[in-house]
Amino acid sequence: MSSSTVLITGANRGIGLGLVQAYSKRPNTTVIAAIRNPTSMPEVQDVGEGSKVVVVKLDSAEIADGKKAMEELKRKSITKLDIVIANAAIGDCFGALSEVDLGSFEEHWRINVLAPLALYQACVPLMPEGSKFIWMSSGASIIDRVPDKLDAGYGITKCCMNYLARYSHFENKSIITFSLSPGWVQTDMGDRGARSVGMAKAPITVQESVEGILKVVDDATKEKYSGLHMRYNGTQSKW
Ligand SMILES: NC(=O)c1ccc[n+]([C@@H]2O[C@H](COP(=O)([O-])OP(=O)(O)OC[C@H]3O[C@@H](n4cnc5c(N)ncnc54)[C@H](OP(=O)(O)O)[C@@H]3O)[C@@H](O)[C@H]2O)c1
Repeated sequence: MSSSTVLITGANRGIGLGLVQAYSKRPNTTVIAAIRNPTSMPEVQDVGEGSKVVVVKLDSAEIADGKKAMEELKRKSITKLDIVIANAAIGDCFGALSEVDLGSFEEHWRINVLAPLALYQACVPLMPEGSKFIWMSSGASIIDRVPDKLDAGYGITKCCMNYLARYSHFENKSIITFSLSPGWVQTDMGDRGARSVGMAKAPITVQESVEGILKVVDDATKEKYSGLHMRYNGTQSKW
């Protein structure tokens, strides 16, 4: 049976951890958990036959870390990546454009946009034809929702993920690449957003989101989904 290598950033909690758990259940799959603090990775149970989880350090605030992580993988004899999910992000910068905290926006820009782009540049040389690069987006990215939302900051950074997905699809003919909104999910980030609007928690579980994401990624081809903004349930999102 052929083997597969999947790299996920922000893999120690939330959607990223759910993705690690789901991919590592598959047989012959090497799952690379790329996280800023390697000691924060929980033990992953129920790993499929011939599969393993490899932890590498990748702090999105350190733009050189993407390349350093690839060098570490090569030292561990991992020389190809079939799926990369740029999942790590922060989401604490909201409000109106006129009052957005510029220091916070700069940090969000670095973690949510520059770091995924640096990751893309570092990963592409290891990605064979037909491999998949997923830019984790959000409903907060959607320009059509302006002015019904106050997402200056976080929303702008996620809008950039859509741009990067579209651009990379046309620029790189051999890679399947798209932006993906995971739904409103019960994680630290999702539940914080839910509480801010008076809800107890976000509407969907990590498991529901992750099951959908795996199917969308599995089904994606250059003709189907690539270059688009997809949702976890397989529907196409607005830009
Ligand atoms: N949850 C939702 O409802 C929702 C909705 C739309 C989009 N999304 C997107 O889905 C993705 C995952 O979100 P989530 O809900 O799972 O978020 P989360 O629970 O807040 O987890 C965020 C992850 O990103 C990592 N991260 C943050 N800053 C980092 C840095 N400087 N370097 C490396 N890793 C860093 C965190 O690592 P540490 O533990 O080290 O902080 C953590 O693993 C994000 O891209 C988010 O924007 C989520």
